[in-house]
Amino acid sequence: MGPIYATRMSTIPKSFIREILKITEDPEVISFAGGLPNPRFFPVGQIAKATSDVLSGADVSALQYSTTEGYQPLREYIAQRYLQKNGLAVSAEEILITNGSQQGLDLIGKVFIGKDDRIAVERPAYLGAIQAFAVYEPLFCPVPLLEDGVDIDRLKNVLGKHCVKLFHTVINFQNPSGISYSQHKREELAKVFEQHDAVVVEDDPYGELRFAGVAPQSMRSWLDGRAVLLGSFSKTIAPGLRLGWICAKPEIMDNLVVAKQASDLHSNSLCQRIVHQYLMNNDVDRHIETIIAAYKKQRDVMVAAIEENFPAEVRFTRPEGGMFLWVTLPERLSALKLFDLAVREKVAFVPGTPFFVDGGGTNCMRLNFSNADEDIINEGIRRLGRIMKSLLAGG
Ligand SMILES: Cc1ncc(COP(=O)(O)O)c(C=O)c1O
Repeated sequence: MGPIYATRMSTIPKSFIREILKITEDPEVISFAGGLPNPRFFPVGQIAKATSDVLSGADVSALQYSTTEGYQPLREYIAQRYLQKNGLAVSAEEILITNGSQQGLDLIGKVFIGKDDRIAVERPAYLGAIQAFAVYEPLFCPVPLLEDGVDIDRLKNVLGKHCVKLFHTVINFQNPSGISYSQHKREELAKVFEQHDAVVVEDDPYGELRFAGVAPQSMRSWLDGRAVLLGSFSKTIAPGLRLGWICAKPEIMDNLVVAKQASDLHSNSLCQRIVHQYLMNNDVDRHIETIIAAYKKQRDVMVAAIEENFPAEVRFTRPEGGMFLWVTLPERLSALKLFDLAVREKVAFVPGTPFFVDGGGTNCMRLNFSNADEDIINEGIRRLGRIMKSLLAGG
């Protein structure tokens, strides 16, 4: 008998973050590693009330099998919110409820990617997208990110040379870099994709967590049906609910629905109703404002601590929202070496390499600022700064 596991299993990168999370289970470790929302803002009481409301009704369908597309009132809510917040006119029929946007990525992989198809991703890219797409054995074409979004000339180059199926972008407050695409960059991106058939996958779990500035337009407003949007309740309500969505034109939806049927028939009906009930009975905008105010403060504290403690040669992004910032060390410093030393001092972060599909990022690191309170952030950054200085001094 040959090997028992499918060959694709050897091409999927193991999530390095999951490995790191084992280290951060030690309560003494200061963790800037995970992408965890701050649990202080989980609306526990309101979710308990919504659950009881859903289950105390006479309608037992919350516990029955349901449609693959998702709970219609929740789909309508999401479509309505796109109109309200982004000026995007989409219909509820274009919304597919998924098990977090992570499942959205998997379904997109299933529908669009065949073995050795080329797909363009950001450099660095969201690790979970690399992992989800890798299952379908594509050839990754990484395109560098600049301060205001992807490098358009490099993107044109890739699209000119190869037949690319899709481009995955985290357009607002990117995971891992914290970078957001400027309005100008989005317009340029739209012009590029008007000339090509590739689908733009706009993965946007952080768009609502904006601390400053005005939200630029979604790619959908230019590319219409060729932009597929992914959204999530993970960062605005709670990730344990595992609820997200894909917004796609009907023809793409038809394919996604078949792919989802094959995966799991439908997302958890009870949970969809609970979230809808929660949204109907509570002021979610106020809730999001509270999260934004706290994360903004945490970002400010981290930025100030970095400015004070990291060596002057270290560069870092100052994100206008989201949960992460990205640190670039001098070339001669290895983030992996720093990681080993930092863990000994009980501080964790994610070194840059797993975010690069082509190697690279060895001198980069991702820091999460949403999950640690302010004094902890100060202490963790102080420790990291001390180790960096010692490494630079040849220690
Ligand atoms: C860019 C991006 N996309 C998708 C996800 C998956 O989120 P979820 O499945 O919780 O919606 C994450 C999670 O951190 C993310 O950062």
